[in-house]
Amino acid sequence: MFHRILIPTDYSDTSRRALEVGLRLAKVFETGVVCLHASEELTHGQFSASNIADVSDLIDTDEERLRQAARDRLTQLVASGDPGIPLSEIEFRVVSGNPADEILRTAIDTGCDLIVIGTHGRSGITDKLLGSTAERVARRATCSVMTVKPEGFPFLRGT
Ligand SMILES: Nc1ncnc2c1ncn2[C@@H]1O[C@H](COP(=O)(O)OP(=O)(O)OP(=O)(O)O)[C@@H](O)[C@H]1O
Ligand SMILES: [Mg+2]
Repeated sequence: MFHRILIPTDYSDTSRRALEVGLRLAKVFETGVVCLHASEELTHGQFSASNIADVSDLIDTDEERLRQAARDRLTQLVASGDPGIPLSEIEFRVVSGNPADEILRTAIDTGCDLIVIGTHGRSGITDKLLGSTAERVARRATCSVMTVKPEGFPFLRGT
């Protein structure tokens, strides 16, 4: 039914649940998996330079260091959740930019036909049905989107 699942994460508890669900589905459906973290930080790397000639080198190095740190964090998060799939079979991607745009772009670029995403993320304001990233992805994705709720999401009768 599905061939490749995209699981975007901002490392929040809810995205961790989405990761768990996405990996389970990947195992059941025997699909490929792409784990993605989009960082707005990467494009605004902090650096200090007295010699202007070295600035571009510093930007490259700083961005590369941040990207590697984000990649390590992503890999560790997946590994710590007992993924049930060899890590070598999971594609890890760290990109810079707006999270929703990058999730949508990555889904197309990698041929994912399902996105498993948390309803909420780091802001975690659960009085809204969806956070802004999840809402934008659910609205605009060309493939199916599964939204995974945080633990203990309240059942609100009549709303
Ligand atoms: N930077 C990101 N990289 C990858 N996935 C992300 C990123 N940010 C959010 N997501 C995904 O989107 C889900 C919902 O997060 P979202 O940002 O919509 O909610 P929020 O942080 O609670 O609210 P908001 O960002 O609107 O203040 C997360 O659980 C995660 O799966
Ligand atoms: Mg967010």
